[in-house]
Amino acid sequence: MTVEPQVLITGGGGQLSKDLAQVFDTSETLVLSRGELDISQAEAVDSAMLHYRPDVIINAAAWTDVDGCESNEEKARLINSEGPRNLVAAAQKCGARVVQISTDYVFDGVLDRPYLECDQTNPQSIYGQTKLEGELAMRKQDLIVRTSWLCGLHGSNILKTIVGLAASESPMVFVDDQIGHPSFTCDVAVTIQELVSLQAHGIFHVTNQGAVSWFEFAQTILEHMGHPITQVSPIATSQLDPPRPAQRPANSVLENAELHRAGLDPPPDFRESLPELLEALCA
Ligand SMILES: NC(=O)c1ccc[n+]([C@@H]2O[C@H](COP(=O)([O-])OP(=O)(O)OC[C@H]3O[C@@H](n4cnc5c(N)ncnc54)[C@H](OP(=O)(O)O)[C@@H]3O)[C@@H](O)[C@H]2O)c1
Repeated sequence: MTVEPQVLITGGGGQLSKDLAQVFDTSETLVLSRGELDISQAEAVDSAMLHYRPDVIINAAAWTDVDGCESNEEKARLINSEGPRNLVAAAQKCGARVVQISTDYVFDGVLDRPYLECDQTNPQSIYGQTKLEGELAMRKQDLIVRTSWLCGLHGSNILKTIVGLAASESPMVFVDDQIGHPSFTCDVAVTIQELVSLQAHGIFHVTNQGAVSWFEFAQTILEHMGHPITQVSPIATSQLDPPRPAQRPANSVLENAELHRAGLDPPPDFRESLPELLEALCA
């Protein structure tokens, strides 16, 4: 009989946490919302970990307002850098491993091929910088999962925005010069669970497959919803008015190379998972 590790998931109100909670749905899983555990409070983190004594801490808590981070670096650092540091310090005391969820925004996006786990990081935003600092807080035995363009059933995300605009037949404009792998929280959560079972450590890119621009992503969603794809028009990032405060990588495509090396299948092409997700969203 295999013994399930006791897993503690932070940021329980977030979109990824909600799907992680479903995937790890055992009596050995504890999900703590921000109100129950603020990861930026070192003492609270210490006492929670010494109380619950998890085997694995999955940190899905973050300040994900990329533009907001530009105007409040202190808050971004407190949550995205200090938070993971507090978790590692507490993990050290209770003997837990940490899984830190990270982002494509640790890269500058100028490479002309998909990013490998070993590629040089060079974040261009406060969000990306503070998330990289969160990665650097990890130890050798911890796991860093970088994902990109997350959408799911829970929380607010671009998929839900597009579905809402499509339903109201409003015209949309999306940039066609930023490309990435749209990733669905339900698929990413399954792969994270597989990595935890394997006791994987180091850096893994975990995304759905199928690189598209935001414009192509919107077109694909409209197509699947049976709406005319002419409802969306392309625009260049430089034409955005007003410009977004945070710089985004032009190339956000993460190659899931380490998953292949570990003998795991990466999450499927996003177009395979999209119909089921749309059905649930539109129900
Ligand atoms: N969203 C994306 O496109 C994307 C892309 C790549 C990587 N990621 C990474 O994936 C992970 C999950 O992202 P997500 O999209 O699920 O984010 P999300 O929906 O914004 O969830 C983040 C959760 O963290 C909570 N939180 C914020 N500050 C906290 C604190 N000090 N202590 C405890 N909880 C706190 C938030 O609570 P409140 O809502 O109450 O503030 C929220 O429930 C994050 O590490 C993110 O950086 C996201």
